[in-house]
Amino acid sequence: MLYQTSTLPSSSASLFDHRQDIVFLFCFAILKTNDSSMASASYLALGSLAIFGLAMALGTLSSQAEGRAFFVFGDSLVDNGNNNYLATTARADSPPYGIDYPTGRPTGRFSNGFNIPDFISQQLGAESTLPYLSPELTGQKLLVGANFASAGIGILNDTGIQFVNIIRMSRQLEYFQQYQQRVSALIGTQRTKQLVNQALVLLTVGGNDFVNNYYLVPFSARSRQYDLPDYVKLLISELKKLLLRMYDLGTRRVLVTGTGPLGCVPAELAQRSRNGECSAELQRAASLYNPQLVQMLKSLNSQLGSDVFIAANTQQTRNDFISNPQAFGFSTSKIACCGQGPYNGLGLCTVASNLCPNRGRYAFWDAFHPSEKANKLIVQNILTGSTKYMDPMNLSTILALDSRT
Ligand SMILES: *[C@@H]1O[C@H](CO)[C@@H](O)[C@H](O)[C@H]1NC(C)=O
Ligand SMILES: *[C@@H]1O[C@H](CO)[C@@H](O)[C@H](O)[C@H]1NC(C)=O
Repeated sequence: MLYQTSTLPSSSASLFDHRQDIVFLFCFAILKTNDSSMASASYLALGSLAIFGLAMALGTLSSQAEGRAFFVFGDSLVDNGNNNYLATTARADSPPYGIDYPTGRPTGRFSNGFNIPDFISQQLGAESTLPYLSPELTGQKLLVGANFASAGIGILNDTGIQFVNIIRMSRQLEYFQQYQQRVSALIGTQRTKQLVNQALVLLTVGGNDFVNNYYLVPFSARSRQYDLPDYVKLLISELKKLLLRMYDLGTRRVLVTGTGPLGCVPAELAQRSRNGECSAELQRAASLYNPQLVQMLKSLNSQLGSDVFIAANTQQTRNDFISNPQAFGFSTSKIACCGQGPYNGLGLCTVASNLCPNRGRYAFWDAFHPSEKANKLIVQNILTGSTKYMDPMNLSTILALDSRT
């Protein structure tokens, strides 16, 4: 699938070609709550009445959050507004983004309307998760879950470095820990643990490690350091560490998406294609990455003795609606609805861009991201897809299984 990328003029390419030299200069402040003080003596001195009152409040809280919690990690495909709160160019908070969202206003989602997590929340019967950085994410809203995703990030720390202030994976997981401390203060440690264990989790990451790292510029430092098969191995082994960290943090049902048809997005068609054919090199990257992702998830599951990690939409490097757009009601899967240049694939989607009148007829909203309609189809596939798409099982099966336990 599709990713927020840079719109670097070619003159700045050389600057970012040296980004590996500067990556370690970036230091990410770690926001830590002073959690150890929570257990201090003053808390233990609470009177029994206060404790009773607290229990009452907790009962109310839990009855208002009956649905399963949902947590989202990853990049722009699943970011629903965290980057609005950051000083970064990777953002979707101005029109025409959000033109088909219920409010008709931009939200930070890289879509004309709903994105993939929104449609999954709807399947869970829940409201959409709030971005973790949203000031509205307090009190009982925390029990719905949270979205930690940040446009521009990848598996590797130096992916998307041109976007400067974005929430890289390790930081997303730190925020998840911080989230758990905040929820513990509301409902207690045991119930927080349960909430996290029973939650559904979505992780969408990896595309930017190609688009905004290895293939960001011709002869990138990364591509001189690793040939493609070795780079894919590196990504898979780093992703495995992140997944084990997620497991340690209590997640037990994690949908992990593949990279999708990287070479077929309008941005790549505009930059690399002569006749509208997908970029062979980026398609090769996806076809190396996806099967290895499936294998890695399988081996993790067998190591853990449980189907914790579910591969989603990995078997194919081409989405069906890219090979046969008409079958899904799309008039095109090559031209972005919003953008400029060939295939509307160059630069950002802004008020000055071409904008298609009938958004439901376009598979791509902007140069990298699916339209709301395509997001809906992707989630339909996650929900009911055969094992060709969902390995070892689809989301309907997961929901049925988990409701029985
Ligand atoms: C990425 O950054 C985090 C936080 O600084 C660090 O813990 C982790 O080891 C880094 N990962 C790699 C592959 O360098
Ligand atoms: C989901 O997966 C199961 C098992 O592979 C399959 O039988 C079913 O048709 C799929 N779709 C739905 C809606 O459950």
